[in-house]
Amino acid sequence: MSEVSRRHFLQLGACVVGGACAADALPSLAHAAEGGDITTLRTTLPYPRVKLASIGQLTVGREQLTTYPDQASPVVLAKLGRPAINGVGPDRDIVAFSRRCSHMGGTLSFRPDTATFHCPLHYAFFDAQKGGLLVIGQATDNLPQLELEVDAAGDIFAVGIRGLLYGRQTNVLA
Ligand code: FES
Repeated sequence: MSEVSRRHFLQLGACVVGGACAADALPSLAHAAEGGDITTLRTTLPYPRVKLASIGQLTVGREQLTTYPDQASPVVLAKLGRPAINGVGPDRDIVAFSRRCSHMGGTLSFRPDTATFHCPLHYAFFDAQKGGLLVIGQATDNLPQLELEVDAAGDIFAVGIRGLLYGRQTNVLA
């Protein structure tokens, strides 16, 4: 058998064996999916629903510091006093953002007079009224914004995040 034909024979054999193995595996994967027990194939975890504050506790100019979705992720909850992208509440002006700069994770300070977040490390700033839009600086991503919901009692809940938190491969850690 020549070198070329032997290589061709081995490649053909590998394809046949590989195809047979894949065909054997598919029914068991499908069966497991129907039973809802494929936890190892999930790439994301569900966000927790966490109460951050009540509408009555917020005033314009006094932001609240808290964490979401876990203790290692600092966030700011603020009432801007003017409608904002993704804002909630009767005035659509309540928003929440990560306090970690999207550039290199600097801890941001919030300035209520301009509704902007400022980074002390390389001076990026982000517009809270415009969904965390990067205004200027070395960052290349906007600031991650929390998805908020308000219930009938006026309680504000964080239920998700738009954007990836700095330093993470996934926002919700296992
Ligand atoms: S860490 Fe914020 S601009 Fe660099």
